[in-house]
Amino acid sequence: MLIREPAEMRQYLQEKLAAGIATGFVPTMGALHPGHLKLVSRARKENELVLCSIFVNPTQFNNRKDYNHYPVTLEKDIYLLLSAGCDVLFLPTVEGMYPSGLAPIKHYPLGYLEEVLEGKYRPGHFQGVCQVVNRLLDIIRPKQLYLGQKDLQQCLVITKLIQLESFETTVVICTTQRETDGLAMSSRNMRLSAEERLKAPLLYQALLKVTRALSHGRAQSAIEAAIVFLQEQDFKVDYIFLARMDTLEPVFDWDGSTPVAILAAAFLNNIRLIDNIIIREEDFSSEALPGPVSYPE
Ligand code: PAJ
Repeated sequence: MLIREPAEMRQYLQEKLAAGIATGFVPTMGALHPGHLKLVSRARKENELVLCSIFVNPTQFNNRKDYNHYPVTLEKDIYLLLSAGCDVLFLPTVEGMYPSGLAPIKHYPLGYLEEVLEGKYRPGHFQGVCQVVNRLLDIIRPKQLYLGQKDLQQCLVITKLIQLESFETTVVICTTQRETDGLAMSSRNMRLSAEERLKAPLLYQALLKVTRALSHGRAQSAIEAAIVFLQEQDFKVDYIFLARMDTLEPVFDWDGSTPVAILAAAFLNNIRLIDNIIIREEDFSSEALPGPVSYPE
């Protein structure tokens, strides 16, 4: 089923929510790839009703060009969502989501979370994410909200938004889906040239190198080396950063037990790539290479 009007969506859900049906919601901006579909499949397994949205949210783009060039593959997306088990697709218009215009009606006190990393390099981005996710959650009121670890900072921001707005929604974070060469899947990857596409997996390689060094207490020097390595390969690095996974506060000497994340963002020409690896104590408990993360699935 496809619904475009927020009011129609509210009406459709009214009885279902009152009956206590377990609803899982996967918000997206479309141009879907297997990473998005993994979220939908997981929601399918864990809920009676699976809702997805496709909405390219203008208020979270720092750059008009990026917004205008955001890939749109709607027909294919609808087919993929149905195949992955979506019951209801919410497809609102900009006017539907922002009836009184795009100017923010509210400021979300995100504090430190929006001052660092993506927040620092994309000023206003997380306020825009909150503007739209608040509206989506208000309309859909899901029991479970499925988000990707690929955007770890976004997961923390939305968790905070849920607290601030007292939504009764649980966040479920799904591991990052990667291409066979390690590149994190992203809608923006389709804009990479053949040459850039060959280089793009080096960002994940750099994160793996830092992960290995972390077990020997040498993360900071490994980060510096990884930045130089990427720069030599023509990346423009915004950051590589070791932080507590739950707060993104910087970590200089890892105690070996607090869950941490290594987060990175870099440009290949005009395309900005982001990625991260989460590391928990148990990742180092065997000789195996610390794998990228393990949220129970
Ligand atoms: P979008 O970039 O379309 O991503 C939708 C969801 O898919 C997000 O939760 C994102 O983290 C997840 N995702 C993206 N790539 C993934 C991958 N390779 N593996 C696993 N999950 C992946 O994120 C947004 O849209 C927007 O900011 C949104 C939350 C919809 C608000 O506008």
